[in-house]
Amino acid sequence: MVNLVIKGGTVVNHDRSFLADVIIEDGLIKDIGENLAVPNGAKVIDAKDKLVMPGGIDTHTHLDLLFMGTRTADDFYSGTRAALAGGTTMIMNFILENKQIPLLEQYEMNKTRAEKNACCDFAFHACVYNYNEQVEKDMEILSREKGINSFKMFMAYKDVFMINDADLIKVFKKCKELGAIPMVHAENGDLIEEGQKKVKTLGITGPEGHLLSRPESVEAEATHRAITIAHELNSPVYIVHVMSKSAAQAVSDGKRKGTVVIGEPIAAGLATDGTHYFNKCWRHSAGHVMSPPLRDDASTPGYLMDLLANGDLELTGTDHCTFNTNQKALGKDDFSKIPNGVNGIEDRMTVIWDRGVHTGKMDPCRFVAVTSTNAAKVFNIYPKKGYIGVGSDADIVVWDPEATRTISAKSHHQAVDFNIFEGMTFHGVPMVVISNGKVVVENDNITVERGSGRFIRTPCYPDYVYSRVKIRDNIKLSKVDREPYTGPVVDLNNQP
Ligand code: URP
Ligand code: ZN
Ligand code: ZN
Ligand code: ZN
Repeated sequence: MVNLVIKGGTVVNHDRSFLADVIIEDGLIKDIGENLAVPNGAKVIDAKDKLVMPGGIDTHTHLDLLFMGTRTADDFYSGTRAALAGGTTMIMNFILENKQIPLLEQYEMNKTRAEKNACCDFAFHACVYNYNEQVEKDMEILSREKGINSFKMFMAYKDVFMINDADLIKVFKKCKELGAIPMVHAENGDLIEEGQKKVKTLGITGPEGHLLSRPESVEAEATHRAITIAHELNSPVYIVHVMSKSAAQAVSDGKRKGTVVIGEPIAAGLATDGTHYFNKCWRHSAGHVMSPPLRDDASTPGYLMDLLANGDLELTGTDHCTFNTNQKALGKDDFSKIPNGVNGIEDRMTVIWDRGVHTGKMDPCRFVAVTSTNAAKVFNIYPKKGYIGVGSDADIVVWDPEATRTISAKSHHQAVDFNIFEGMTFHGVPMVVISNGKVVVENDNITVERGSGRFIRTPCYPDYVYSRVKIRDNIKLSKVDREPYTGPVVDLNNQP
């Protein structure tokens, strides 16, 4: 049965754009071509003067997360509904529970919650906090049987999630053995502890203390360390939420040296900055607290966008991790107790279109690459996801490149009562969003079904990440053939 025909739009993939109609049947793309006949009974979507693009893939979300003592405002229902409203048709959520709970159990808990509530497709990244036999076994089962090909480690959040370097190296090696992707939250947790003590000694208790205690160098150092470890192990590495110029520079340098490093900036870091931490309004300032912090430098977002446009940074997420003001208020007298996290799941596509394409930094094909296709390639689900092609999942956004949207917590679909992009107007708006072959957003009407999202397995050994690694592993170091040394050797037990 034919369900939908998207008529007269410009199909934009990561590699080319062309005028074509798209026929959708049973959740998949059935046909693509010019002037296709409209089959009987099909709903026609007029896409004249519009772009027809793969729905967004948000590589970094925290829905239904208990963090710093409180649960995020957005759960799998409100979060994925908001994602769809913004043109994102798949999310990748972090499995991040109390570290005493075995990883496999954490996975089952999250999968059950997501399957009951998500309105769009979802995949998971697991998190690893230390290394032992149990973790090793769970990583094997998660990657070989459960559809998880990525494991995040925290170099920050000391005494909570932070992993030490020795264990981090072991997890990198295990990931490589499994063909999985090690992901890193790159901030130096020991230096943050020192910074927090220092800032508090100065009597600073407000949200500006969050930024002041986690300077850019602390992010850059950890980013450089993680990339160096990856380089020496001939392992890929994925740096989540790249927030500063110098961390982004470390990613660029790593790429220049040949390390397989994937850098992920987020919507927040691409369109707003850390000057908000100095706002006189506590609520406003605390609303921007996330880690690593937004940087106190108005040129950082544009710099990160330049690197996203030129390929040094690869793809985008949001780190959507929302807390209402009364939750942020847990840290009203101590910035280090403000639950970390900001919004973005609904805003990302529009923000990146405006700051990336509308400014002329990237073309629509690159937009598709950094909002969807590259994520699908990195996590090995391309071309099922991230592509408008026959046989691909019908996750599609019909995009009006010239329409504008002014963002506000009053009108957004995210459950949180604050929006870091409040009052900002962006070009590029989804007119129609199709998820699994169904229209879920049309002219501001959202018709989602709780629990309709499917778990998407991410298979190991993505070529996009691993083919270079495999070749390099076969390039062996060779010894120098020389005559043996036959002269005297100092006697260590008989030295003057
Ligand atoms: O502030 C943040 N980023 N909250 C979520 C946890 C994380 O580090 O990704
Ligand atoms: Zn993180
Ligand atoms: Zn305010
Ligand atoms: Zn995060």
